[in-house]
Amino acid sequence: MKVSKNRDVAFTPALGRAELTGLYDLAVKFLTREHIWRAALLAQLAPHDGESIIDVGCGTGTFAILVKKAAPKARIVGLDPDPKALALAATKAAADGIDIEWRHGFARDTADAGAAFDKIVTSLMFHQVPLSEKRAGLEAMFGALRPDGELHVADYAHQSDQTMRRLFRLTVQCLDGLEDTQPNADGVLEDLMSELAENRVSPRTVVRTITGAISLFRIEK
Ligand SMILES: C[S@@+](CC[C@H](N)C(=O)[O-])C[C@H]1O[C@@H](n2cnc3c(N)ncnc32)[C@H](O)[C@@H]1O
Repeated sequence: MKVSKNRDVAFTPALGRAELTGLYDLAVKFLTREHIWRAALLAQLAPHDGESIIDVGCGTGTFAILVKKAAPKARIVGLDPDPKALALAATKAAADGIDIEWRHGFARDTADAGAAFDKIVTSLMFHQVPLSEKRAGLEAMFGALRPDGELHVADYAHQSDQTMRRLFRLTVQCLDGLEDTQPNADGVLEDLMSELAENRVSPRTVVRTITGAISLFRIEK
């Protein structure tokens, strides 16, 4: 369910409905094998002190906080259109004494978040956005990278077998609806990334979960 009556600024909240955002961290923990895919994404991102890194669609901030803990002297920005999710993220970071720049905005606004980034990461965001925003967001993120920068994506992408497709349908698609999620299940994210970076998209890591398969991609600029 999209929040806002204005189509230009509408977005799907973290758990599909605004009133469920407070439960998002628990749901991800118990339904997505979170420790496995977040650890794999962090290893793939390999953050270093001194780097400038943005987490697009950062939600409640769990991954941005992990990145900052791994590289305390990196500049970390968290970008999300949902003020409620950003408030939860800021509270979690403050409780850990962690300094992250939380910014309000959409994936298509990535370049507005400051100078070119060494690395851009996004997790579980693209399956929730319209096809036009998947394309515009990917292009904006790619454009906001330094010339030798890297884009790291973890999301429900192509659901390549019947079991994963069924589980994705019964869980994520029930919460987030079909319109924005089905293109991901059909492989559109892979197509858009290939259009943007041809052969510079790394082979994906796939984590099978009870909510469908989560795929990790690394794309060189
Ligand atoms: C399922 S949550 C994922 C949150 C976080 N990245 C994580 O790994 O837990 C998806 C997030 O994407 C945000 N979002 C929705 N539409 C967006 C858009 N067009 N651009 C950027 N973020 C968006 C939502 O507000 C939500 O916080």
